[in-house]
Amino acid sequence: MKKIAVITGASSGMGREMAFQLADRFEVLEEIWLIARRKERLEELRGQFPAAIRCFALDITDETERKQLEMALAEEKPDVKFLVNAAGFGKIGNVGDLSEGDECGMVRLNCEALCAMTHLVLPYMSRGSRIIQFASSAAFLPQPKFAIYAATKSFVLSYSRALKQELKPKGIGVTAVCSGPVKTEFFDIAETTGKIPLYKRLVMANPKRVVRLAIMDAAVGKNISIYGITMKAFFLLCKILPHSLILRLMEE
Ligand SMILES: NC(=O)c1ccc[n+]([C@@H]2O[C@H](COP(=O)([O-])OP(=O)(O)OC[C@H]3O[C@@H](n4cnc5c(N)ncnc54)[C@H](OP(=O)(O)O)[C@@H]3O)[C@@H](O)[C@H]2O)c1
Repeated sequence: MKKIAVITGASSGMGREMAFQLADRFEVLEEIWLIARRKERLEELRGQFPAAIRCFALDITDETERKQLEMALAEEKPDVKFLVNAAGFGKIGNVGDLSEGDECGMVRLNCEALCAMTHLVLPYMSRGSRIIQFASSAAFLPQPKFAIYAATKSFVLSYSRALKQELKPKGIGVTAVCSGPVKTEFFDIAETTGKIPLYKRLVMANPKRVVRLAIMDAAVGKNISIYGITMKAFFLLCKILPHSLILRLMEE
């Protein structure tokens, strides 16, 4: 059985970085399966890894398109050592000001497609395998002007924590990555509908570092990976203080 990693959102940002770092650090990986819609972006990655790559240019919110992956898994029957669900997007703006497509699209990609991918790949994972789910620090607190995005990430965090408990007997780890703002193409998309607040710009992290920590945290079996002292402090604050109070303070 071929040992592989399956990565969604592999055409840019943290998914792409995951592909590089996993291939570099885990020689055991014979193939990396890269998934995103932009085929040319995935193809550009050929020859850049020590492991072979297989590109799946598909929209993972589309059940019919996901069948390609389902068929490839059934045919190859690989041993998936890593599943990384990094595909995701957020749009800034009040509920109702965003289009219905954007509002529901965030739920479809960030929640539904992430569950579908996990469901598809899980039967091919074995003891010692790891699932890395990209949530966000937005999961810690409701966010006005980013309401649906933050809610989708709360879903991912809650789902990942429960899944971790369920998979314990099978020896499969689950880590939710809850970074704060990270410098990727994410904000090019998010800011098509509104501007991010200055404080987020000031704490923008480097994707290489966030991914390095996520891999380390997944390797040691942490259920949550939070990069940076600021976000760790934010996580604690959201646990200690009533959310209504934090929201009021942030408003002022
Ligand atoms: N950047 C941040 O500040 C930040 C902070 C915390 C958490 N996160 C989360 O981290 C994850 C990675 O974000 P990023 O910052 O790396 O963003 P990014 O650079 O915008 O990457 C998003 C990836 O998702 C893929 N994607 C989007 N829609 C898709 C679809 N329908 N089907 C398949 N693939 C799709 C994109 O590829 P195509 O366009 O080619 O399909 C791209 O590869 C996301 O879940 C995001 O919510 C980001």
